[in-house]
Amino acid sequence: MEPNATKFDLIILGASGFTGKYVLKEALKFLNTSSSPLTSIAIAGRSPTKLAQTLQWASKPNPPPSLPILHADTTDPSSLRSLCSQTHLILNCVGPFRHHGEPVVAACTDTGCDYLDICGEPEFMEKTEASYHQRAVETGSLVVSACGFDSVPAELGLLFNSVQWVGEAVVNRVEAYVGLESEKRMVGNFATYESAVLGVANASNLHKFRRSRPRRPRPQIPGPSPTKGDTIEHQKKIGLWAVVLPSADASVVRRTLSTLTENPHGLPGSDESPEMVVKREAFWSSVKPAHFGVKIGSKSLLGILRIIMVGIFIGLFGNTSFGRWLLLKFPSLFSLGWFRKNGPAEEEVESASFKMWFVGRGFSNESLASQGNTKPDMEIITRITGPEIGYVTTPIIIVQCALILLSQRKNLPKGGVYPPGIVFGHTDLQQRLQQNGISFDVISKSTISS
Ligand SMILES: NC(=O)c1ccc[n+]([C@@H]2O[C@H](COP(=O)([O-])OP(=O)(O)OC[C@H]3O[C@@H](n4cnc5c(N)ncnc54)[C@H](OP(=O)(O)O)[C@@H]3O)[C@@H](O)[C@H]2O)c1
Repeated sequence: MEPNATKFDLIILGASGFTGKYVLKEALKFLNTSSSPLTSIAIAGRSPTKLAQTLQWASKPNPPPSLPILHADTTDPSSLRSLCSQTHLILNCVGPFRHHGEPVVAACTDTGCDYLDICGEPEFMEKTEASYHQRAVETGSLVVSACGFDSVPAELGLLFNSVQWVGEAVVNRVEAYVGLESEKRMVGNFATYESAVLGVANASNLHKFRRSRPRRPRPQIPGPSPTKGDTIEHQKKIGLWAVVLPSADASVVRRTLSTLTENPHGLPGSDESPEMVVKREAFWSSVKPAHFGVKIGSKSLLGILRIIMVGIFIGLFGNTSFGRWLLLKFPSLFSLGWFRKNGPAEEEVESASFKMWFVGRGFSNESLASQGNTKPDMEIITRITGPEIGYVTTPIIIVQCALILLSQRKNLPKGGVYPPGIVFGHTDLQQRLQQNGISFDVISKSTISS
């Protein structure tokens, strides 16, 4: 593209992938519609033929619009730099990110191009922040990973629960419980399973990496640190059995809370209006940080035992190369049918949904929290509900983040590598998600008798 030629609003990299095609489908809903900032899209990847077929699929029942199809391969840095020179924003759907993500972030941060992705891999995100944040600040490239089900519901859900603690009331811990529902089989595509298997294989590297990094400030949270609790929990109020979900959510939320501790009024936008400064500062001042954890829930104990079984398979076999080969060769067998090489059928995607409950526990008065061993006396339960997580909710989220970036760029940080909560928390992202089928509700506020 000529230096002064008009750039695309965004390029979807990896649009031919299972998730990428749904991201394209979602983005097309906002292309050249009234009040949408999205006037041009290009799609990019290795195979023009597959990308053209994807465009057909994503446009149906309408004829496909004539979107430019660009060549890009994550093993060819010049192809990625060329993409960056042609757009303001890249939506990266090429995973696993530990294999493919870094060259894309490098190209974006070198050229000042903005970047969003749907990564759910903490190791990639934390290493990207460590290696590219400074460069991104210098070039004005805003890099935000985890703009999908991992980890925007966790981030916005914690903030939503936290701002319900008004006046003297303070929150101590928020535990999120993810419940997945479907009238048909619940199935995920292979790449997500592969990312999880590789995550287990690299767990010790991640611990080593974290230990090598300077400690970031943690927020002051009123009250005692929460205890570990039972391995299997029966949450009677929401009707779920639950175990810890080793997803990226807790690590992403922790990074948002550390950034908030360093910047108590949030991150200033590159060119904010005085009204926006007031709005941003008011929002972040109302947020009361809490300890945060995520569990996966099931209505039956048997369902939880199945989840534990899959965790044991991945945990045991993921540590050796032969074990990983087995896990990746037979995904359906070792995930008890939850992941398939060719992903879910369209009807399976359409019939699935999620509920994510946020059980917040804290104190009706901050002075109670400072009295040593006092137990929380207040509970606020909030909930996010939405459609299928990987291929409906995730595209809705990344597309809404992109639309905010295109329409409100000056309200967002000039550049840097950040988690989504701290970048979008004070914007209208929650309202936008609500308008697109993902709802946020307060379920109950109650006192807890000891
Ligand atoms: N955050 C969330 O909640 C969430 C939800 C869904 C998925 N994800 C993540 O998204 C990622 C993608 O998942 P998926 O199921 O869509 O995977 P997929 O179907 O395997 O798609 C991968 C895409 O990457 C492209 N690709 C592979 N190697 C490439 C290379 N060297 N250069 C350029 N493009 C390349 C593929 O192109 P070809 O068509 O040419 O092979 C394809 O378009 C995974 O990491 C998954 O964990 C996250």
